[in-house]
Amino acid sequence: MAMNYQNPQIAEVAAVLTKRFTELDTKTDILKATELRALYAQIPTLPAEERALFGQEINQLKQALQALVDAHQDKAAALPPIDVTAPKDVNASFPELLPSSNGSKHPLMSELESVLNIFYRMGFTAVESREIDDDYHMFGSLNFPEGHPARDDYDTFMTTQTDKNGKPLIAPAHTSTMQNRILRAHAAQLEQGKPIAAVIPGRVFRNEDLDARHEHTFYQLEGVYVGTNVHAGNLIATLKTFLQTYYNKDLDVMTQPFYFPFTEPSFEFAISCPFCDKKGCNICSYAGWIELLGCGMIHPNVLREAGIDPEVYTGFAWGMGIERLVMMKQNIEDVRHFESGKLDFLRQFS
Ligand code: DAH
Repeated sequence: MAMNYQNPQIAEVAAVLTKRFTELDTKTDILKATELRALYAQIPTLPAEERALFGQEINQLKQALQALVDAHQDKAAALPPIDVTAPKDVNASFPELLPSSNGSKHPLMSELESVLNIFYRMGFTAVESREIDDDYHMFGSLNFPEGHPARDDYDTFMTTQTDKNGKPLIAPAHTSTMQNRILRAHAAQLEQGKPIAAVIPGRVFRNEDLDARHEHTFYQLEGVYVGTNVHAGNLIATLKTFLQTYYNKDLDVMTQPFYFPFTEPSFEFAISCPFCDKKGCNICSYAGWIELLGCGMIHPNVLREAGIDPEVYTGFAWGMGIERLVMMKQNIEDVRHFESGKLDFLRQFS
């Protein structure tokens, strides 16, 4: 550190900390060094006329250390990307792989297979969503205009990389990002009298505070259905049929009005608790009902944006959290188990 300190004690701490900085794994720890704190603690004990200079020099030292930390971070950020085309060292030894017979299907994936099988039997096709997307598919195509307050409900992770419009790329916070693509791709078949019926499983990401019911990474299953004379009764019947099949039980369903920019009307959809038949238990928090998903009739602006005439065709859509569905079926108490990689959890389903 090319800095001269008049006070010999500060000069010595500067030398010690500069050396330690080179050895620290976590460079920011240097700012928390006990020596630095001890210097600050001395200030009130000094004679009044020495305090100002002493204080100034400690601040200088602190700034110099901060500059070292910043320079290190800039350098780390500027590391060149890995060259994936570099020739590989054929002599390098590879870690030995565990035998695949030790592995098993993740419970979410086996449940997703049975969910999809029910929808296949109902005539839906499946399309996977993406793990990186853009502002237009996350918001614009779904009737969230620029600056719309509902955008904030989605706690969306964004990248520093931008799309062709200069907007940050997005880790999708819902599978609704796929609606415009699917509607657009199949719009032509509507004219031949064939409805659009698709389900979209996918991984989604939200900047959530984590607890037993919230994860930053989870799965959703989106559904879209568009045709002629499609109404909310079809939506409710479709979801009820699916849920009764999945839980293998007769269920009551309830819709309550809600707001999503991409559906009008929009609903929250609840089922009678499959564990207590509305009597109240700890799974349904003694409410008798369990809210499972959001849904509604696709907003005319969303259809129009995908090249479909909302005067001729109508449709419904929904989005449900797959973990929630599976947690209720398998009596799993904490959503964080799914992404934990804990073998004692996973082996219960193998
Ligand atoms: N995308 C919504 C969410 O993640 C869920 C949703 C609600 C999807 C209504 C839909 C829908 O397709 O129609 O909160």
